Amino acid sequence: MAKAQASQNAQMDAIVALCKRRGFIFQSSEIYGGYNGFFDFGPLGVELKQNIKDAWWQDMVHRRDDIEGLDSSIIMSPKIWEASGHVGGFSDPMVDCKVSKMRYRADQLFFSPVVVNGEIIGYVSVLEDENMEAAAQAAAEKVKRKQGVQGELAPIELKDYTEADPSQYELIPSPATREPGSLTPPRDFNLMFETKVGALSDSTALAYLRPETAQGIFANYKNVVDTGRVKIPFGIAQIGKAFRNEITPRNFIFRSREFEQMEMEYFIAPDADWKSAHREWIDWCKNWLVSVGLPEEMLGEDVHPQEKLSHYSRGTTDITFRFPFGEQELWGIACRGNFDLTQHQEYSGKSMEIFDEAAKAKYVPHVVEPSLGVDRVLLAILTAAYTEDEIGGESRSLMKFHPRVAPYKIAVLPLLKNKPELVCRARTLYHKLQRKFNVFWDTSGAIGRRYRRMDEIGTPWCVTIDFDTVEKDGTVTLRDRDTTEQKRVTEEELLAFLDDQLF
Ligand code: GAP
Repeated sequence: MAKAQASQNAQMDAIVALCKRRGFIFQSSEIYGGYNGFFDFGPLGVELKQNIKDAWWQDMVHRRDDIEGLDSSIIMSPKIWEASGHVGGFSDPMVDCKVSKMRYRADQLFFSPVVVNGEIIGYVSVLEDENMEAAAQAAAEKVKRKQGVQGELAPIELKDYTEADPSQYELIPSPATREPGSLTPPRDFNLMFETKVGALSDSTALAYLRPETAQGIFANYKNVVDTGRVKIPFGIAQIGKAFRNEITPRNFIFRSREFEQMEMEYFIAPDADWKSAHREWIDWCKNWLVSVGLPEEMLGEDVHPQEKLSHYSRGTTDITFRFPFGEQELWGIACRGNFDLTQHQEYSGKSMEIFDEAAKAKYVPHVVEPSLGVDRVLLAILTAAYTEDEIGGESRSLMKFHPRVAPYKIAVLPLLKNKPELVCRARTLYHKLQRKFNVFWDTSGAIGRRYRRMDEIGTPWCVTIDFDTVEKDGTVTLRDRDTTEQKRVTEEELLAFLDDQLF
């Protein structure tokens, strides 16, 4: 168990280090010591991110007849967030430690009574993670030893702090100090970032950075209906930044304070079978994740129990992914009923009804919402792609990115940099390929080292121009990243191959 955990931590550390070394992801404001919960994407990271967004947009919007795109503003009328319930309800219950000044999410702080011979002799607390059961059991044994109590220690039973009885708040030790008496009761903490709009700085100027892109879609639903040719069922998709003042940003870019979402609201008739629409979208999303390179066996489904559903949801299933730090939510697919549109209808006084030609009926449609974090799926793709293997007795680390999302699609390498005929021929091919793909040019170092550099940043193919290319038949060497196999192909065959692979 401890060994598996150590290897998972090592894998995560290796990925974080590679991201920095090769220019995928940097800590925000690094020169000032970093800024917790914010990240910057370097030259390779921005390509990877853009490719993920492009793949989603192509499949979700361009390749479907029933979905339209949208790009709404980040800051919108504060009334939108009142109507949506975010001003009143978008909060996590938080616990403060009055001594250490640490703040915890109540649903991530777990506690258990320490019971010996049927009597409670104290409490232990742990923060949520894979090994919290074992950690809590060890802490309970320590409490028993310290108190010198003889007898049988009952197995610990962990509950989260939201389930604590008020009489237990004073008895549960703070995870920071290990002493009881400093934890506050859970208090609601709104996750929206506030800002001021305009010259006045009173309460009338208060506005919010959007915590989800979805409300921009609901607020524009009527515009799309009135200006487009949509008919039920149809969807509106949007990619954009979202901001949440997360209390515990963690696991690298898994949970950050500024992130991007790819969301789609799929509008259906109120009497449509929402459960099958939900299932269809879960399957679509899973297939899409596999199509960008996530292994199916690393994906799972987490059906939210009725009592834990968000305020707007009638049913939510998360597609989960096995991250190195555990199986976690990747893509939430929620059935929001007609909650949002009805709220906006009420708060704005504008009708949100649509006339359904086929059914000859007017109604406020219901909605199924697949919502995916760009940064989170990027982290899943990075962790799934990260591979260590051995080639000819030499170890190598490589990123097995699906060609569709790989930052560079191909590298062009003249065999020798001091032979103008090779460099010139390679340069011509490089410019030809550049018109269609993001191509890497590299002349420095031995060819084997250049291949390794491309493996490490996940470039699926390398093409080498050698003397046979210029003196004989014009063929080039095409090398595959994963198998390291090489074959000679003509330039026409190379172009046809790339077109075929990079659909
Ligand atoms: N509109 C619904 C909505 O926003 P959510 O479950 O809060 O639902 C949807 O978020 C998705 O957005 C998550 O499944 C995750 O992929 C991503 N996400 C949410 N909070 C995030 C954060 N703090 N950092 C990175 N991604 C986040």
